[in-house]
Amino acid sequence: MLYLDAPADPPPGQPTRRLSLAVLGISIEEFCSSGGAAAVHTGAARIPMTATIEMAAQRRPGRPIRLGAWRTVAYEVALNGWRILRETVNDFSLWRLIEYPWATRALDLRRGDLVLDLGSGTSSFPHMLAKEGVDVVVLELDAERVRWQRDKRRATARPGDGRFFPLVASATHMPIRDGSVLRVAAISSLEHIPDDVAVGQELGRVLAHGGVAALTLPFTSSERTSFFAGIRKFVPVARNTFVQEGKPGSFFRFYTAEDLERVYARPGGLLMSPLAGFGRSILNGRYHETWLTRYWRRFVLKDLLLTLLVHPLEARFDRSDPLYVMFTLRKR
Ligand SMILES: C[S@@+](CC[C@H](N)C(=O)[O-])C[C@H]1O[C@@H](n2cnc3c(N)ncnc32)[C@H](O)[C@@H]1O
Repeated sequence: MLYLDAPADPPPGQPTRRLSLAVLGISIEEFCSSGGAAAVHTGAARIPMTATIEMAAQRRPGRPIRLGAWRTVAYEVALNGWRILRETVNDFSLWRLIEYPWATRALDLRRGDLVLDLGSGTSSFPHMLAKEGVDVVVLELDAERVRWQRDKRRATARPGDGRFFPLVASATHMPIRDGSVLRVAAISSLEHIPDDVAVGQELGRVLAHGGVAALTLPFTSSERTSFFAGIRKFVPVARNTFVQEGKPGSFFRFYTAEDLERVYARPGGLLMSPLAGFGRSILNGRYHETWLTRYWRRFVLKDLLLTLLVHPLEARFDRSDPLYVMFTLRKR
């Protein structure tokens, strides 16, 4: 259960309350970062609050949830319509068909678990999890995207789904109590956050002992001097870091294995798993970072084939750098 707690001494004239996000989640309109506290609008009052996730004492029984690539496509169609087979409406394409099944498995999910999804954008992944009976907190900086998530939820919620808590907040200052989260997902999102060190610290802070975070991030074994060379204008702004010309908010960072340790594992004393990769010489070198990228969001069934046929071969035999790595961080 997720609660919003009013501070012990609320500002004059504002009531002390204990409110359930199950009721209030959709009324959170704005995040104000002030020492990890969120601002919640409840009608006229604006109450600074922090969120607490109350954990079940024992692991819930049930089968582990498996979200295969086929199933993610079926969910995407159910959530956004048949048109996504021709052109997707969000970032759902080849990489997500690899990442969502991996993250679901890595978090060892069962019905009734709760996942904190960081940088959800307009992705359907939180909805797919909710359809599998998982409670999801969508934590996203962009209020417009959180509204999209809320509206999508309103339109598609069915009895038996997990609960859904959209939250406008920054992963650099999460309005979440220390040590209160058992499962975190961040799918292709943290590479867009300039202050990644703050995110690493926050991950270490909010994860409970025994908790796990499943992350996917861009990778380089040494140095990336270009990105989408000759295709899109990504300008280097720091080592392994790019911004797309004329596109505000297009910040994109590659990580070495040592960077991942330094930024995401060490600050919170988290244990990093071995890295699994995707997007090597064929899927990235001959498709994603080429002119063929114009088909990236189109005809998603081709990506399903690439996921099922080419990705396993690349992962097994191709020793070149993957574009992205997937790994877990575990708090002992
Ligand atoms: C590539 S998109 C989301 C990908 C999504 N997770 C998926 O599965 O398709 C990255 C998202 O991170 C969000 N973001 C950027 N900075 C953030 C921050 N500091 N805290 C939370 N979200 C952030 C962006 O608004 C954007 O929606």
